[in-house]
Amino acid sequence: MRSAEIERFVGFLRDKRSVFVLTGAGISADSGIPTFRGQDGIWKNYQATDLATLSAFQRNPQIVWEWYHWRQSIILDAEPNEGHRALVHLEEYCPSFLILTQNVDGLQQKAGSKSVLELHGNIFRARCMDCGQTIHHELEPEIPKCVCGAMMRPDVVWFGEPVPTDVLQRSFAFIDSCDLVIVIGTSAVVQPAASLPVYGKNRGRQLVVVNREATPLSDLADLNLFGHAAEILSDIVRGLNG
Ligand code: OAD
Repeated sequence: MRSAEIERFVGFLRDKRSVFVLTGAGISADSGIPTFRGQDGIWKNYQATDLATLSAFQRNPQIVWEWYHWRQSIILDAEPNEGHRALVHLEEYCPSFLILTQNVDGLQQKAGSKSVLELHGNIFRARCMDCGQTIHHELEPEIPKCVCGAMMRPDVVWFGEPVPTDVLQRSFAFIDSCDLVIVIGTSAVVQPAASLPVYGKNRGRQLVVVNREATPLSDLADLNLFGHAAEILSDIVRGLNG
């Protein structure tokens, strides 16, 4: 059953020149990084409104900072997995390739992917609340101050905040001319990320969804592969090389 689906996926890739990939927390789950939703998801134990909003940070910056500090330490202990590495191979295989990730962990880039856009920022960057200057930071328990004197915040997108316009525009433009959209490990409930595969489908792009379980995109997909992203994507690379 699975091998027939893998073969179909490989077939989709063989004659596709341009491929757009949207990833979510599920691709990093195989590296040991908790996802947000579902049984062991972060939002089971923490309230998003207490930790991932601007008002939460304004109310209690130190608590929010420490939470990001804790998440950084989990990510720093993790390594890219076979799923991330498979996408590096796909980038080499496809003439035109773009990954849009909702993940802030940087693992896709660490695996070696070159064409990665971050929709929700990066947990290893801090940004000045006043002048917008960004810096790299790792495991600093104290909230850094900008050279201008203002407080810095994690350079991630919080609930209620807009995503970077240029990243979104580049993604829509890429989908306008791509052949295939692959969605990996996202619950597809957070906008605007979830609308991108729908946009592609409405323009006649083929859609493949890789997830452990059904999502709002499952019924729309030309092909669903249910299971662990690391396993499925390494099978795909083996199939392309075989
Ligand atoms: P979610 O936690 O909402 O969803 C993770 C998805 O990955 C679920 O659909 C799981 O079924 C699937 N999954 C888990 N393990 C998997 C595995 N090993 N292989 C394949 N699939 C697997 O994460 P996102 O959709 O990325 O935003 O969440 C979107 C945004 O909501 C995040 O970027 C974050 C969050 O709140 C902000 O912080 C702004």
